[in-house]
Order: sequence, then structure tokens, then C-alpha cells
Amino acid sequence: MRIAPAVAVVGHVAVPGDKSISHRAVLLGALGDGETRIRGFGRSADTEATVRAMRALGVDVVDVADDELVIGGVGLRGLRAAAGPVDCANAGTLMRLLTGILAGQRGRFELTGDDSLRVRPMERIAAPLRLMGATVRTEEGHAPVVVEGSATLNGIEYALPVASAQVKSAVLLAGLNATGATTVVEPVPTRDHTELMLEAAGVRVRRRPGAVTIEPPAELRLSEVEVPGDFSSAAPLLAAAALVPGSDVTVHGLGLNPRRTGLLDVLERMGARVAVFNRRRSAGEAVGDVQVEHAQLVATEIRAEEVPRLVDELPLVALLGSQAHGETVVHGAAELRVKESDRIEAVTDGLRASGARVHSREDGWTVTGVPMRLRGGRLEARGDHRIAMLGAVAGLASSKGVEIEGAETVSVSFPGFYELLDSLVRR
Ligand code: S3P
Repeated sequence: MRIAPAVAVVGHVAVPGDKSISHRAVLLGALGDGETRIRGFGRSADTEATVRAMRALGVDVVDVADDELVIGGVGLRGLRAAAGPVDCANAGTLMRLLTGILAGQRGRFELTGDDSLRVRPMERIAAPLRLMGATVRTEEGHAPVVVEGSATLNGIEYALPVASAQVKSAVLLAGLNATGATTVVEPVPTRDHTELMLEAAGVRVRRRPGAVTIEPPAELRLSEVEVPGDFSSAAPLLAAAALVPGSDVTVHGLGLNPRRTGLLDVLERMGARVAVFNRRRSAGEAVGDVQVEHAQLVATEIRAEEVPRLVDELPLVALLGSQAHGETVVHGAAELRVKESDRIEAVTDGLRASGARVHSREDGWTVTGVPMRLRGGRLEARGDHRIAMLGAVAGLASSKGVEIEGAETVSVSFPGFYELLDSLVRR
């Protein structure tokens, strides 16, 4: 797919429901007592994999509409062993959270995924689950993951070796069926959608700076979840607005959980004009409308502590840096090497091919900004939805356009991405 340069990016839009929250709503709804209605469900290849996985494990999921589901909860320990391996497709969140849940179910379960998911690290969840008493096997640290559920898990206190919401969530979800409390200590705060949804479902959740504890509940009752717009899906649109002169974009009904919105702080530091309106709360999550207007950008530095708040948006930060005055440096982002692709190399190769001055380091990039349009060129998505979206934004901000190899991979998180983007573009 070729993305031509934009004269400006202008308009008002909404984006599909948050992927992290959609996965969690289906998983917790399945463990609930009674029905859970999910509105604003973000339907994508990743979240469809979660629905299919739950069906394979004996859960009734009714598709009411494209963005609405009703889950028939089977109770905290009611999942059934599937006939064969459960396919998690490309979804790391599904594989890691589901392994945590299965640790306390009855039976033997095998989880597998696509070529990308089968090379991602899984010992990071297997290790704490074993400490809780579960039997979890990986193949040299990777999927397929085999879980033998245990009726006698014990709660633990676990200090995360890497800042990862997926690992934190796997341990907390196993803790639902453990004896005694489960505590996770985090080196840096990561997204807390699991904690917030558990609280909404009636679980006793105690939070203090750097740690979260849950008590095993008698039951979960979610009944209704309203999923806000996905900040990570809005991020490419907001980045395009910041980059292309004359742009002004507002995204409505966006999830603004402070552990997700690091990009807004970075955009402000870089000089873009950012405004947030209509702040409200929905099921414990912050929601609002976000407007970004173009301005000449200046370079910035991203520190390790900041990384979890914008981990999926860092490729866009490298692009923003390529057109900002000065040198932009991203530190402490080694986790990007084990995402859907090695995002450090995918970004460096992709942006360089369009004329950007980007150098990769082990844990990030150094980007020398040139305050003029990128030349443009060809970018390989490497089967990674966030890299394809980066290519699209680079194309709009370029002088010659960007050809994206593997553009269709955006359907992993945002099937209508190109159409929505196109509705904002003036050429
Ligand atoms: C996610 C957590 C992050 C993020 C991923 C979704 C989640 O991964 O990159 O896209 O829903 O918990 P890590 O927790 O592994 O950093």
C-alpha cells in the first residue's frame, strides 16, 4: 500500500474500543457469575482470538453487534479443557493473561500462536506461576505453553523483574483461585486495567505506590463494561496531526488512563498543541476528548521510568523526533525488542529508508531531527501492526509518500485504520 503525502490532517473522529480492556473484559466476563455485557468492544484479530479461545474453553459468547458482546460467565473455576491447543494467534496479552487464569482451572491446557507469538518470551509468566504451585511448561522459554491446572495454588508476593502489565496481570489472575493474598510489586507503574476491572467486579484490591494486592474472591460480578476508545489506536492520528503543518485532529471518547497517555506529555514537551476536553470516568477508567494541533517540534529525551506509559507509542516518538529540532533520545526501551517484531530494528530500518537519521541502541534510539519533511520510501511492517501504522504516518508527513509492505497487518488491532486515517487527510 502506498500512503501519499498529506497537505494537512483535519477533523473529528472516534476510534474502536481499547484492545487491552476488551481482552480483559472477555476474560473476566468468562470467569464471572452470570452475564457480562461489553459495549464499545474493540473488534480486531487480537480480540477475536480471545473470543475464540473462550468459546473453545466452554464459554458462551454472543455477538450482539460488531462492538457489543454478551459473555455467559462460567464462574471462577468453570473453564473446560479444550479439545486441542488453544490458538492465541498474534495476541501476547491473550497468551499471558490466559496462562495465569488456566493455572487455577481443572485440566490440562495447551496454548499456541502464530510465528511471531511463538518466539516471544513466556518464561516471564511461567516462573511466577510455578512459584504459586502451577505446572507450566514452555519450549525453551516459548510457546506452545502447557498448563496443568492446580486446585491448590498459593498466593505469593512477586517482584516483577521487567515492567510488564501482562506479567503482573497473569499473576493477579492466577491469584483469583489461590489461597491467601497475591501481591505484585512493580519496578515502574504499568497499565492497571486488570486491577481496575477486578475492583469493578467486586474483588478486594489494595493498592500502594509500586504494589498491588488482591484477595481471592468468592465470585466475580462484572455485569457491564463500557470500553473507551483505544489510546494506542488514536496515537498515530495524533502523531500525524503534530507532524503535518496545518493539522488539527480531535479524537472523541478516548481512554485516558494516566498509565497509557505518556505520548500526550511527550507531544507537549516537543511543542505540539494538546488539549483535553470532557474529562469523565467510566467503570473506573478515565475518558475524554483529545485535540492535537501541529506546531514546529523540538527534540526530547525519554527516560526508562516513562517507557511503560507509552511503550506501544515509542515507534511514533522516533518518527516525531526525526522531524524535530535537535537530538531525540529514547532510553530504557529494550522491551521493544520482544514485541510483535523487534521494534527497535524495524523502526530504524523503516525510517532510515525514508531518509530519517535514526540510530538504534540496545535499549532505544538516537534520532537527529531535520525540521523538514521526510523524503519517503519503502517500509516493511514485518507482520507488526504498530510498524505498519508508523509507515502510514510517515507517508503522510513525507514529501514523496511511503510504500508499506505488509500493510494489512493493522487488522491485528485496528481493522478500519486506513479508512479512518484517510477520512482526515487533505491532499
Ligand atoms: C499490554 C501490555 C504491554 C503492551 C501490550 C498490551 C496489556 O505489554 O505492550 O501491547 O494489555 O497488558 P507488556 O506488559 O508486556 O509490556
